Amino acid sequence: MTCFPFCSKVTSSARHDPEIDEDISGIHNVKLYTYKQLRNATEDFCLANKIGEGGFGSVYKGRLKDGKFAAIKVLSAESRQGVKEFLTEINVISEIEHENLVKLYGCCVEKNNRILVYNYLENNSLSQTLLGGGHNRMYFDWKTRSRICIGVARGLAFLHEEVRPHIVHRDIKASNILLDKDLTPKISDFGLAKLIPANMTHVSTRVAGTIGYLAPEYAIGGRLTRKADIYSFGVLLVEIVSGRCNTNSHLPIEEQFLLERTWDLYERKELIGLVDTSLNGEFDAEQASNFLKIGLLCTQESPKLRPSMSSVVKMLTGRMDVDDSKITKPALISDFMDLKVRRKQESSTYNTSSASENQDTTWRFTAQYDQTMQTSSVNSALSFD
Ligand SMILES: Nc1ncnc2c1ncn2[C@@H]1O[C@H](COP(=O)(O)OP(=O)(O)O)[C@@H](O)[C@H]1O
Ligand SMILES: [Mg+2]
Repeated sequence: MTCFPFCSKVTSSARHDPEIDEDISGIHNVKLYTYKQLRNATEDFCLANKIGEGGFGSVYKGRLKDGKFAAIKVLSAESRQGVKEFLTEINVISEIEHENLVKLYGCCVEKNNRILVYNYLENNSLSQTLLGGGHNRMYFDWKTRSRICIGVARGLAFLHEEVRPHIVHRDIKASNILLDKDLTPKISDFGLAKLIPANMTHVSTRVAGTIGYLAPEYAIGGRLTRKADIYSFGVLLVEIVSGRCNTNSHLPIEEQFLLERTWDLYERKELIGLVDTSLNGEFDAEQASNFLKIGLLCTQESPKLRPSMSSVVKMLTGRMDVDDSKITKPALISDFMDLKVRRKQESSTYNTSSASENQDTTWRFTAQYDQTMQTSSVNSALSFD
């Protein structure tokens, strides 16, 4: 009955697990790891091996028995899908291979554990290396940045247009763009949307770190299509060119929201002023300006006006003109938020405890988002444009 060709040892131990007695004969490509194997790989999930914590759970660096390093993602306890349901989704993800997508090696489904095992990427995520302020920060020259933008676009175009059925990523953001040793970008966490129950409370914590990437029609209306991913990609593109996060409460009011700033500069025909100053002027100005315009095309308020990802790839690589004659104003999530911070800050100085005030805004938004999610379940909102 059970057929997991890569790991016969695991198959035999899995057979003793009553949960695995479900009919999972249609699942061919998933490599199963035992909990013990992953415990050994991570030295008992010790803190020293923990490399991150996201909305889905904790991530550990581990060394598998064959010597390969892996990123081992322990999904949080709420994500207790049935074995068959879980493996069906994992089966889909396992079959997807592309140069710009993180490879899923396999998973563990023993008892209540739901653990994903991914290829380990040496150079961390863009949120730490490009946008972060910590010790992981790296210098990215223009050529590398443009290569990263194009790579991410290709990965997303593949998910949107070549994988059947199409996959909406739902969480395109800098921390989901990982870099290998050659700085080739790999999109992580695709296909996970269906693993997380819509009513899970941590959806709200997830969104707190994701807020600036969310297309308003998704954040407010729960309408999730490929166009919502394209919006997030547009935000990411502008972040990569400008070298700054989409929201920065430490900046003067008019510069806090990156998209708002981009639109402002675009209208004043000063877009090039947004390019990261750490490049010291060493960049291809025409290409940089085109990238920023593509970012604006992707973030337009009307989802219909946003280009498909394959068109984005063509524009980024110069195989299609960037028609900026009719770019319309971006949809700004800040327009939908309670702008308490802004009002407060306008009546005082900019830097008075801005971080905590910004957090306050985030949580107020989160509350609104939670209500939205309760009335429009994420899963039923999954639709393909
Ligand atoms: N395959 C991987 N290789 C290397 N590091 C990874 C990998 N997957 C995740 N990480 C690290 O773990 C962190 C947490 O990941 P995740 O749980 O997906 O949360 P998020 O994407 O919200 O940051 C990431 O930001 C990254 O630094
Ligand atoms: Mg992630």
